[in-house]
Amino acid sequence: MAMNPESGLPDEQREKVSRRTFIKGASAVAAVGVVQIPGAAAGIDKAGVEPDILGPGPVSIRLRVNRSDLDVEAPPSTTLLDLLRDHHGLTGTKRVCDRGSCGACTVLIDGRVVDSCSMLAIDAIGSEITTIEGIGTPENLSDLQQAFIETDALQCGFCTPGMVVSCTALLEQNPSPDRDQIRQGIAGNICRCGTYQNVIEAVEYASRKGGK
Ligand code: FES
Ligand code: FES
Repeated sequence: MAMNPESGLPDEQREKVSRRTFIKGASAVAAVGVVQIPGAAAGIDKAGVEPDILGPGPVSIRLRVNRSDLDVEAPPSTTLLDLLRDHHGLTGTKRVCDRGSCGACTVLIDGRVVDSCSMLAIDAIGSEITTIEGIGTPENLSDLQQAFIETDALQCGFCTPGMVVSCTALLEQNPSPDRDQIRQGIAGNICRCGTYQNVIEAVEYASRKGGK
């Protein structure tokens, strides 16, 4: 049987101990909803300074959303999706799977496509967040939103805000994407109604018009 020279335990037993210890520690943090600030995962940083612990009670969170500063008091365990929907009333961003697999909750963080259900709101502090409400309004639709209507690129519409956000980011980076590039651009967005073909046509329509 292989023995570990540091612990003096058989390798197999040492593995079990480390896993149990890790799970115990992780569960304690999850159970009370506290968050260690970034860089503090090891408990004490290299200079021997104890990390700040945020929570579990509410803390002040200022986010830059759609070119405005929004302030709220919320637990640091609040996801960006919950903060946008429940605290700021930005319900265009949808919650479907709530686990980072469907793309319904897509927003832009400094121009990058992000699933807001899988990010803590406090991790978005200092970034420019754009939601579907920041892309266009019913009175002033973006070219791409207009294209979704023209090409009939939605059925139930539940995936549509996330699709529009992803396609907006795509056209920002590549104003003339080909069909494969459009498919890649929406690869993280699931449409249960199957509107993919019309979404591709909407992007091409907006692209031909030189818009986004
Ligand atoms: S709700 Fe966020 S990815 Fe599905
Ligand atoms: S239009 Fe219904 S899920 Fe996409």
